Amino acid sequence: MPLNLQNKKIVISAGASGIGWATAKVCLSKGAIVYLCDIDNKLLNKTKKHPLHNKRLFSYEYDASDEDEVSDFFNQLNKKTKKIDSLINNVGVAGPTGTIDKLSSYDWEKTLKVNVISHFYFSKLAIPMLKKNKGGSIINISSGAGIMGFPLRSPYAASKWAVIGMTKTLAMELGKFKIRVNAVCPGTIKGDRMVRVIRDKAKFLKVSRKKVEKEFISMASMNSWIYEEDIGKMCSFLISKDGERISGQTIPVDGNAIRLD
Ligand SMILES: NC(=O)c1ccc[n+]([C@@H]2O[C@H](COP(=O)([O-])OP(=O)(O)OC[C@H]3O[C@@H](n4cnc5c(N)ncnc54)[C@H](O)[C@@H]3O)[C@@H](O)[C@H]2O)c1
Repeated sequence: MPLNLQNKKIVISAGASGIGWATAKVCLSKGAIVYLCDIDNKLLNKTKKHPLHNKRLFSYEYDASDEDEVSDFFNQLNKKTKKIDSLINNVGVAGPTGTIDKLSSYDWEKTLKVNVISHFYFSKLAIPMLKKNKGGSIINISSGAGIMGFPLRSPYAASKWAVIGMTKTLAMELGKFKIRVNAVCPGTIKGDRMVRVIRDKAKFLKVSRKKVEKEFISMASMNSWIYEEDIGKMCSFLISKDGERISGQTIPVDGNAIRLD
């Protein structure tokens, strides 16, 4: 594998499992140095078994949706490095499932706090480190739900559209500093998150999980699951020199999702 991320310093929020961890592993395999945080201590312990842990991989326990904790994470980071090449704003929860009359304002606010406001906390602290680096790349993980509507998941869809607005605006603000900002929109990913999403939707609609799963896969014209590593490979491309003139874009990795319902 070409080491086209050799010594690139990459920060990932919520990186101990799922898409974040797959992305960390892809970037490590290409020579990067990865700093990740996650809220889940058990999952973080698993990352500590990686052969590059404490060499090129550094994992920390922090809540990405709490401003003080994000600030503590950056204090730790600053002890290791003053400059970074990339920030991947990956944290995001699925939020509640249901029609709007059944959802609570607590769940709505929580979804927006984790999926949008956390990206503000990270970006605010990462941008000075990207400027010191004289350029770099921010990748915001949005979703197919940031391109289309997503019935029964209104707070999630609203949060993922907000991520696109933030991406386009930051790309305009930061272009002059050679900092590129893009949004990656994963499709239906084979993994724990979709197991939970399918379970909750099947329960809400009172149908079988198998039926809901089949429906989800059929929403992509490639009629296929997407894999966590597919998102990691797109992030690695965007961070590398090959992506050096790509900014302000909304990039789906979804097997051509044609609907989300
Ligand atoms: N999985 C999918 O099908 C899918 C599809 C489209 C978009 N996405 C987006 O991709 C991103 C990653 O999704 P995923 O499926 O890998 O997530 P996930 O639900 O598998 O969780 C990944 C990690 O996030 C951590 N986490 C959750 N809340 C946190 C917090 N407040 N602070 C720190 N860590 C926290 C968890 O501990 C876990 O390790 C999210 O933004 C998600 O919305 C996922």
